[in-house]
Amino acid sequence: MPWRLLSLIVHLLSGLILGIESSCDECAAAVVSEGVEIRSSVVHSQVEEHARFRGVVPEIASRSHLRTMLPTIDAALERASARLEDLDAIAVTSRPGLIGSLLVGVSAAKGLAMASRRPLVAVHHIEAHVHSALMEAGLGVLPCVALVVSGGHTALYDVRGPLELECIGGTIDDAAGECFDKIAAILGLPYPGGPAVASLAVEGNPRAIAFPRYRPKDGRPGFSFSGLKTAVLYHVRGRNPSNPTPPPAAIQDRADVAASAQEAIVDMLVEQTLAAARQFASNTVLVVGGVACNSRLREQMRSQAQARRLRSIFPSPAYCTDNAAMVAAIGWHLWRAGRTADLALDASPR
Ligand code: KG4
Ligand code: ZN
Repeated sequence: MPWRLLSLIVHLLSGLILGIESSCDECAAAVVSEGVEIRSSVVHSQVEEHARFRGVVPEIASRSHLRTMLPTIDAALERASARLEDLDAIAVTSRPGLIGSLLVGVSAAKGLAMASRRPLVAVHHIEAHVHSALMEAGLGVLPCVALVVSGGHTALYDVRGPLELECIGGTIDDAAGECFDKIAAILGLPYPGGPAVASLAVEGNPRAIAFPRYRPKDGRPGFSFSGLKTAVLYHVRGRNPSNPTPPPAAIQDRADVAASAQEAIVDMLVEQTLAAARQFASNTVLVVGGVACNSRLREQMRSQAQARRLRSIFPSPAYCTDNAAMVAAIGWHLWRAGRTADLALDASPR
């Protein structure tokens, strides 16, 4: 068989997808083959641009995406030694997220799809997070329950197939990562708060302060973190709202507060996830999203899942936080299923 024909067949079978992610404060592009082989993954984080505001400022985020989107895509193609014409499809996060940020990625993807005559695939950001674990662990772990836990989202999914994901519960107020970030602000720790609280917690006693743990009353899986944030504030400042929050040096039990608050967040995440696994008859749990980087969460989920004869799977830390490899991974499944979008695709915050 002539080599050119052979290489054409190999190419047709491989399914090379460019993924684009810009839903929040990470501008990312990646090239992934067959939904699993990461040929390149480039992430430009805006953390430094938002740090002094202690949170993501939407206007700054979208302007930053405008500056970095095309260089990030170029870098991803170059590192994968791929040209636009080698791609089979272009997958982009179209929801949920910050509308101005999403629009930058969606517009870039539409332009590239039109110029290269390649199909466009619209990806749901939270479902993409689930694929960060499936990409590494393989589809053999299905069916399973997935906990998506990040700065913007805390939700549980019943995952029956690569494109069969059903939300079975979520937070009624803050996301767990947001709670870490707010507790860090109370303790005078830098942004993003999760890693800062986690490293201070190493020096503290997780049982020093009995912070509250929310438990849904209707028996369905769910989360709430705003009560914990308020309890930490009252512990540090007192209940009188006219009291100022003390400076970090004046908080004597700072490490104990960090360790005890982290323990409360971890306990709620582990308890609800394992309860959902039991309720949905799954013997595997996936934990994905930025907070899945947390060592105490990894440790507690592993040991408590093991005690119940369940398997727990975490992606490697680089793929827990926002990235475009996970977008290309689910994009490959959508493309193969013929679920492509047209150029009228719009971004949506919800
Ligand atoms: O997934 P991600 O990059 O962005 C969103 O989609 O939100 O997650 C960012 C969140 C932040 O709230 C950050 O504080 C948290 O993940 N985070 C952590 C850790 N590393 C990042 N939280 C707890 N412990 C960590 N080690
Ligand atoms: Zn995310």
